[in-house]
Amino acid sequence: MAIADDPFIFEACEPLIRGGKRLRPMLFIMCANSKVDCPPEKTMPLATALELIHTASLVHDDIIDTSKKRRGVETANSKYGAQIAVLVGDYLFAKAFQLVAENNYSSEVQMILSKLVKNLCVGEIMQDRSLFEVPTLNEYYTRINLKTAIFLSSCCRLGAGVAEMDRREVDNLTAYGSGLGLAFQIIDDLLDFFGDEKITGKPHGGDLKSGVITLPVIRALEISDEASTLRKIVTTGGNVDAAIKIIQATDAVDYCRTRAEAHIESARINLPLTLKTSVALALEQVADFIVDRTR
Ligand code: FPP
Ligand code: MG
Repeated sequence: MAIADDPFIFEACEPLIRGGKRLRPMLFIMCANSKVDCPPEKTMPLATALELIHTASLVHDDIIDTSKKRRGVETANSKYGAQIAVLVGDYLFAKAFQLVAENNYSSEVQMILSKLVKNLCVGEIMQDRSLFEVPTLNEYYTRINLKTAIFLSSCCRLGAGVAEMDRREVDNLTAYGSGLGLAFQIIDDLLDFFGDEKITGKPHGGDLKSGVITLPVIRALEISDEASTLRKIVTTGGNVDAAIKIIQATDAVDYCRTRAEAHIESARINLPLTLKTSVALALEQVADFIVDRTR
């Protein structure tokens, strides 16, 4: 399927779409194949729509964060300006819903998609209304749930629906996706500080520069001897490298990893025992990948 007939829109979307991990469509397809092999005609359009919604949200996220690089390539806002980038994001978003409509997915599917997009927006608005403010642990979790966990759990729920699993299995796969999502975002927030830019494809320290305060900072503020210096840096947009040094001198990295591992463990426990062996193994591997990932 071509992303866009218009050569300019194609050129604007293609580099970003080419680079992703495809985690969301992969989860959906795996869950859809939980019981018996599911024909690709039933999964591909919705799998594509999920990746397009995610990509649209990243295009908009990069405008909000004024990010210059994503997935190793220049962002749409940096290349074409925010005005065009908003429309590129809208285009991808519309394309996703075109695929859903053309392929006659049920109203329940449409409802799950609409809710997940609303949650993405609420999470993002919550984040942007409290820039340069230190969130409580609860506020941090609410935000990462809305921004990431609900998206991944929705992919699993949609797949379980296609596989016609029973209520309990659907709920368990949804809980698996939610644990995965929380862990994914915690690791993402760690990588923002300590990841290798060449591998993550985006400059490090971006969260702090744009005023987004995440778990490594919340932890370091709790236990560092230099907490007051760190607080001043993160609430005023000060020197990111100095902040990273203070965080690194605490147990914040181990603390975040331990929390991420706990969410992965809870995801694993929720995997239904009724899954096809190949799918159960694949979903276990996805769980391993989330905590070990470097990008
Ligand atoms: C990336 O996370 C961004 C998100 C998970 C969600 C962004 C959502 C929106 C902009 C609203 C929804 C918009 C549409 C069109 C569906 P991050 O900022 O934590 O990670 P990053 O370091 O990769 O930017
Ligand atoms: Mg961002």
